[in-house]
Amino acid sequence: MWLRLLLQLIDPPGGRSVSFALNGTEVSVPDDGSSLLDTLREHLNCRSVKDGCSPQGQCGCCTVWVDDAPRVSCVTATRRVVGRRVTTLEGLTDELRRRWTDAFVQTGASQCGFCTPGIVMRLASLEHRRGGADDAAVRTALAAHLCRCTGWQSIVEAARLALSPAPPPPAGRAPVLAAWRAQVEGPAFQSSGAEIVQGGGGFADDTAPHDALVVLAPGEGAAEPVATLAEARRRAGSVPGRNSTVALSHPVAVPEGDWALTLRTTWVEPAYLEPDASWCAPGGVPATPLANGGAFGGKRRSPVASLARRLADDQGRPVRVLWSRETVVRYGPKRPPVAIGVRADGSGVMRVARPSGSADLTPLRRAVAAQLPDLSLEEVVVAGPPVAPEIRGAGWAEAAVVRAVLPWCRAGVTGPGHRVEVRRPGAGRAVVALDAAGEVHVEVWAGEVLDEVTLRSYCLGAVHQGLSWVRREGIALDESGAVQDLTIRSFGILSARDTPEVHITIHASDGWPVNGSDAVFAAAAAAAWLADGLAPEWPTRR
Ligand code: FES
Ligand code: FES
Repeated sequence: MWLRLLLQLIDPPGGRSVSFALNGTEVSVPDDGSSLLDTLREHLNCRSVKDGCSPQGQCGCCTVWVDDAPRVSCVTATRRVVGRRVTTLEGLTDELRRRWTDAFVQTGASQCGFCTPGIVMRLASLEHRRGGADDAAVRTALAAHLCRCTGWQSIVEAARLALSPAPPPPAGRAPVLAAWRAQVEGPAFQSSGAEIVQGGGGFADDTAPHDALVVLAPGEGAAEPVATLAEARRRAGSVPGRNSTVALSHPVAVPEGDWALTLRTTWVEPAYLEPDASWCAPGGVPATPLANGGAFGGKRRSPVASLARRLADDQGRPVRVLWSRETVVRYGPKRPPVAIGVRADGSGVMRVARPSGSADLTPLRRAVAAQLPDLSLEEVVVAGPPVAPEIRGAGWAEAAVVRAVLPWCRAGVTGPGHRVEVRRPGAGRAVVALDAAGEVHVEVWAGEVLDEVTLRSYCLGAVHQGLSWVRREGIALDESGAVQDLTIRSFGILSARDTPEVHITIHASDGWPVNGSDAVFAAAAAAAWLADGLAPEWPTRR
């Protein structure tokens, strides 16, 4: 009994704490059952550690070191690190942090930057633990991560640079020109530089005040705001998402016709890494969920900002609104599935899935007409998650792909080794070919280059996204249209190990800078489809 009383004096019920060393300093935090990720962000203000999929443990954005080994902090209980050493990007030695940051900036290996601190922690640990790593080891290490923007190759190049015995001094780049090129390539403002690599992209939940109430919003509905994220997680009762065994579906049929070429696609997740988030003070302007980039158009209509504003006004206090990864997958808009039948002269039909709750598809209709004017467009009501016309070139890219491969189709030629060309009206031009070894050769024309590293980085990302879309990506639905594949790994995104080498040639001109990566995206998709024999359904290799 005396011993219990003594323990209660030292560690009263409800007031327990846990202690560990964070970046070389002993810290004590409340023992509220949180994950290490939530402890680092909520109690210790470590905002370089990101939440891309908690509690799924699949995106790698929350990677830190525990006793010098990389750990995914969203699935590490804080109690497990009692008495141990935890290191975040802020705690790396100045030399290590600067060298990796310079390497990422120099190679354009960070775009939105949400994935980057976790990747840096993983790759820097290769050096720390093994005295270095080759490209294969780097690609293997990247299997624990997801980057949707860069397409991996520039990250491998950054690691090569950072791990070289004598990295060259950082090349001088003009940040304004890099940001200009990034804005031309992305749908929203995006900057690049050391602060982006180190996680300072201005993401909405990183800038929220500490006294803000928290809502883990279920879809477009609003849960009651509570004082802490730990409490919000308890109330939401969220469970790790799952990979389903349900087969992918192609919900739209190609109409009967004498077609030279047909294509059916499935539901594709935009798969941006920062889940929708916003916060707002009463009467204030809500923080944008777009942050450093546009999420490939997937967050253009996100309800979190207006919800944060309404709840803040109701509560008379700042309110944070967060979507979990599972909520993003269940309720966020998808790339619309299509079915296309086209004749040799380019005339035909494109049917587009439009579940209830989807956005108006008029912009998609216009974009398709600009590419193939004789392709009539029909909307088909099907059960499924909402779709949106803003998601990277939706409709336009499908029409551009069909148009690009039609000459080869007419000639009865498929397989690798053929150059396909795509021009985006009012924007750039790209020619892409896959060689027999699967490597990708890209030429791009995008007006004045402004910053070659940035344009190349976006083109590498576009190739990855195009190949991944045609060959691997899709999410399964059940018969009622409810999404079944709820985890990041189930989206089918090409891993670093499966992504082929890409060779980019940029043709400079003194014309006005225009978007080049959208043309690269569609041309890479067309070249991959041609190499895969123009199979009538995507994905072709899942
Ligand atoms: S947030 Fe931890 S792995 Fe994604
Ligand atoms: S830079 Fe990797 S997800 Fe955006």
